[in-house]
Amino acid sequence: MMKKIVLFLVLFIFSGSLIAQTPDEEKKVFIDNLLSKMTIKEKVGQLRLISVGGELTLSKVLDQIEAGEIGGIFNTVVEPDLSQMQERALQSRNQIPLYFGFDIIHGHRTIFPINLAIASTWDRSAIGKVAEVSADEATSDGLNMTWAPMVDITRDPRWGRVSEGFGEDPYLVSEAGRIFVEKMQKQSLQDKKSLVTTVKHFALYGAVEGGREYNSTDMSERKMFQEYLVPYKAAIDAGSRAVMVSLVSVNGIPASANRWLLTEVLRDKWHFDGVVVSDHGAIRELINHGVASDPKDAVRVAIKAGIDISMNDEYFLQFLPELVDQGVISENEIDRACRRVLKLKYDMGLFKNPYRNLDPNLDIDTMFADNRLHRQEARDVARRSIVLLKNNDHLLPLTKDMKIAVIGPLADSKRDILGSWSGAGRANLAVTPLEGIKDAVKDPKQISYAFGANLSDDPNLFKFLNLYGMSSKFDERPADEMLAQSVAVAKESDVVVVFVGEAQGMAHESSSRTDLALQDSQKRLIKALKATGKPVVITLMNGRPLTLPEEYDQADAMLETWFLGTEGGNAIADVLFGDYNPSGKLPMSFPMNVGQIPVYYSHLNTGRPRGTQNMGKYTTSYFDSPNEPLFPFGFGLSYTDFTIDFALSSDQMLPGGEIVVTANVENIGDKTGMQTVQFYLQDVTASVSRPVKQLIGFENITLKPHEKGQVKFVIKYDMLKFWNDKMQYVAEPGKFNVYVGDDSTTKNKQTFTLLDK
Ligand code: NOJ
Repeated sequence: MMKKIVLFLVLFIFSGSLIAQTPDEEKKVFIDNLLSKMTIKEKVGQLRLISVGGELTLSKVLDQIEAGEIGGIFNTVVEPDLSQMQERALQSRNQIPLYFGFDIIHGHRTIFPINLAIASTWDRSAIGKVAEVSADEATSDGLNMTWAPMVDITRDPRWGRVSEGFGEDPYLVSEAGRIFVEKMQKQSLQDKKSLVTTVKHFALYGAVEGGREYNSTDMSERKMFQEYLVPYKAAIDAGSRAVMVSLVSVNGIPASANRWLLTEVLRDKWHFDGVVVSDHGAIRELINHGVASDPKDAVRVAIKAGIDISMNDEYFLQFLPELVDQGVISENEIDRACRRVLKLKYDMGLFKNPYRNLDPNLDIDTMFADNRLHRQEARDVARRSIVLLKNNDHLLPLTKDMKIAVIGPLADSKRDILGSWSGAGRANLAVTPLEGIKDAVKDPKQISYAFGANLSDDPNLFKFLNLYGMSSKFDERPADEMLAQSVAVAKESDVVVVFVGEAQGMAHESSSRTDLALQDSQKRLIKALKATGKPVVITLMNGRPLTLPEEYDQADAMLETWFLGTEGGNAIADVLFGDYNPSGKLPMSFPMNVGQIPVYYSHLNTGRPRGTQNMGKYTTSYFDSPNEPLFPFGFGLSYTDFTIDFALSSDQMLPGGEIVVTANVENIGDKTGMQTVQFYLQDVTASVSRPVKQLIGFENITLKPHEKGQVKFVIKYDMLKFWNDKMQYVAEPGKFNVYVGDDSTTKNKQTFTLLDK
């Protein structure tokens, strides 16, 4: 008998070890089990992402949460409210925890430069720092998901949202997107500081016709796969667990109704298995788009296309259960979407620890005050984001004993320097340029200040800017009086630093413009200051490329500072006084005039390239404007000068092979500085026309005065691939040009041949 018991025990233990579940199996069993207990309505609840506000008061939301009708919350950063919501979720029948999302776009509490500025660093570690600090602060603040990165390629600066993206180039945007995903989500979603990312806006939002917000996009599949879809794919390959769908039509079908995009491309081709979230109100907008007849139909269309989660729509709850009842949508389709949401929550560790990011003792004010390190990091990224556009006679850097006139409507604006999408930041903690400059000089009395002019004379612009509580100050004094005061201040100084550009609200969602010039009020101000004969440093604050040929001529020096965030003013002072030698490079071409748009460096050649003879007649050109932008992609000066030459390890490549590019860089000036070495490729002859140049890599190098250094870059066979005439992704044998230089206009060229075999 004893023997039998021992045998039984041995078998029991042995078989137990055989049937032990893997973590994946455990997860599946957990989710299957949960799903089997849920009603249709509860499953639909998981597909709803809701924001408290308007008629949907906190108390109504709490009741819906307890009824199992809400899966996630966004737009709340009040910790006690979040805790209360989670508590109620755990009182619901199935006790499924909520997740909490927020737009953490360029920093959370400590605001970093806007994304277009971050891209101007061309510095992977700076980009990573933004993502890391953002995730750190957001997760300490109760949040576990963000609607970022925004990786829409943008080539039309009329569109206000170019400020939120990383510019015009597929490679640079992909790199930024990838880094955001890796640094925010981390290796495991269960990491306490992991913030789930949502790649947006899938797809092609940045290519809306005419740059007009929410307009349609039409594009060949080749251009999509070759360029515009590349960054979304890169961010998804980096592991982003969510995708947000764009609000616009893609080749005639709104993205939220576009089965080809959301299912055939995203799921079937790219194997994305995270959650697909609609944008705010997108389901109901399908009726306006004309692809759904009524709200119920809109729900059907969205689900059939591949939307999992609806953002702020009542319609899912109202109509999905009915659509299932009627057999229009199968329970399987609901289960599939619900399973994805539950899987995400499981992977985030929310079932084990629903309060993982909620700390009732967190005191936001202390968090702000204690974040000195984050502020230092924000300052460092901000100064790396600044692009030096002109510097006649080495006017910059200024010396700290100069008398400086700081002038302009943006010189002392705390709200503007934060930029758009900085909802959890605090303007009162931001450092303005005036404050930063005063702080840097020996005696603050060296600095005199004048407001100079309103951003615009047009009261309607201010009405627009101040909608929804954004504060843009309009000074009621007569324009001439303000101008006279600034001229007087300028005359008493050694140099004038004038801050002009846009209010942050002009470079935002729903802020498209047709005219990209500075407003007349600002132009008058610059003219008056220039007339004093004092050297003028035009310091731009704006969220998009502007058209600035006149200002470029007037300026003795010119800096693009974008909107630099909480530490912006200090960063500007660092660059003005040479405590940091500017290293930023433009991530988007600056057009000469609006008529050139879209103007971008990686265009195709034409059959009639621009000629120089006979005023360019019968060649691709405008008779009233050059083809070239005012500032090209990749452009940015330094307080020192560099030379770059390079060599290839071979002039031939075999299929599957590689070529090493060695670039020799020399600092020929007298200041330490960083140079971004940019590597471009041109496939000279192929079955389809290929861009005249295409960025394939970049590396930074910092050199002391007269120091020489090397950077290496490996051109891999895969980098030669493109979508050919049959829409196959291949490399074709033939000649390739390699360009290496300090911006996209470089003529430094070497050639190699890709062999057949
Ligand atoms: C609408 C915007 O298009 C999107 O980018 C943002 O994430 C959501 N609103 C949520 O605020």
